[in-house]
Amino acid sequence: GEGVVRRDRFSGGPARSFLSSLEADRRIFEADLEVDRAHVLMLAEQGIVEDDVAGDVLTALDAIEVDGHDSLPDGEDVHEAIETAVIEQVGADGGKMHTARSRNDEVATCIRYRLREDVLEAIETTLALREALLDVAAEHTETIMPGYTHLQPAQPTTVAHWACSYEGAVARDTERLLEAYQRINQSPLGGAAFAGTTFDIDRERAAELLGFEGVVENSMDASSSRDFLLETTQALSTHATTLSGLAEDVIIFANRSFVDLADDYASTSSIMPQKKNPDTLELVRAVAGDAAGSVQGLTTTLKGLPRAYNRDLQRATTHAWETVDAVTEAGEVAAGAVATADWNEAALAAEAGEGFSTATGVADLLAANGLPFRTAHEVVAIAAENGSNYDALEAAAEDVLGEPLESYVDPGAVEDALDPAESVASRDSRGGPAPEAVAEQLEAAREALAAD
Ligand code: ARG
Repeated sequence: GEGVVRRDRFSGGPARSFLSSLEADRRIFEADLEVDRAHVLMLAEQGIVEDDVAGDVLTALDAIEVDGHDSLPDGEDVHEAIETAVIEQVGADGGKMHTARSRNDEVATCIRYRLREDVLEAIETTLALREALLDVAAEHTETIMPGYTHLQPAQPTTVAHWACSYEGAVARDTERLLEAYQRINQSPLGGAAFAGTTFDIDRERAAELLGFEGVVENSMDASSSRDFLLETTQALSTHATTLSGLAEDVIIFANRSFVDLADDYASTSSIMPQKKNPDTLELVRAVAGDAAGSVQGLTTTLKGLPRAYNRDLQRATTHAWETVDAVTEAGEVAAGAVATADWNEAALAAEAGEGFSTATGVADLLAANGLPFRTAHEVVAIAAENGSNYDALEAAAEDVLGEPLESYVDPGAVEDALDPAESVASRDSRGGPAPEAVAEQLEAAREALAAD
């Protein structure tokens, strides 16, 4: 019968396994069955195949689903193998399933169908991470910590301000993934090889049966374009980059005993008995490299591909699967590590003023009392080299201004500015670290999270 003809055509020769995507297509086995069901139902509704043939095909597809991917006959890919299996069960009429379509629109539909699900899962992990970060923030609006630029002590801030900073970045990652999702969620089915079909198909109906929001209009675009893969992989790579920074921060904080990871997210040494290592976060950090590599591989594969279908596309798809799996897992681990970590408030407070991190606040105070900011900067810079305390400020003021510090500013206010907690409390500009400013950020972030 026909099935034999099809299998003979995939002789493959020495290139057989190189050509075949059957194993990689395990990922879209269920999707292909759904696409087959929707297509054959639409064909029957349109009077293109007989109802009883469609019924037999649907029955066969159910049996194939029960048997699973491992029981498929050999084939160049899952589409061909499932079709062969249908024909084996239904007879030659099973071959009517492939009326008015091609594997080109079929595979594009399967990828979008499955990727939709995977991207939703990735989006959910971004939401879980945001929630974990906001929970940390809610608990630590008053937990003073050192803030860094160039990894040097810069200005004191709070754990809440730090956590909200990552929450904001992850929220944009969520948005990028949601946008990619909208463009994934369009059906290419019915584009056929690229040139449409003579049959009176109903593309909207097939799309609706598969839960797509609409159709990719142009049939050549529908079967050939993979910008949705690129966009999704890029959005995931961007998220992985955010995760890598978060992981790096926590690794550094663990190094300084500012934070203690839960045992579930730490690892030990096979030789050094005392060790507790942040391995999970190091792996999260590394996933950004894999994701960036996939973007590069995918971009290079797609670059310069002519219309319409080219087999290169078969190797494009795997980049997206690998990326969505790795980044989703990294996001889950990051969320778990953040949610279960213990912040060492005493160690953070002890170091919040390290490296004269209140210097900017003192300069701001002098400037607020009439000194040009540049002159204030100079006074404090000299004090920074001579003890970084009130006495050093007094001496520097005499030196630069030729007058006592008290003639410019109230000594009590200077003492406050030198205190890390007061320094944080005074920086209450919008988006700043002062507890009430962070409380506003938290509230807005909670609302945005609930809406996503
Ligand atoms: N397995 C192919 C892919 O993943 C789909 C089949 C299209 N093959 C073809 N020779 N036109 O892209």
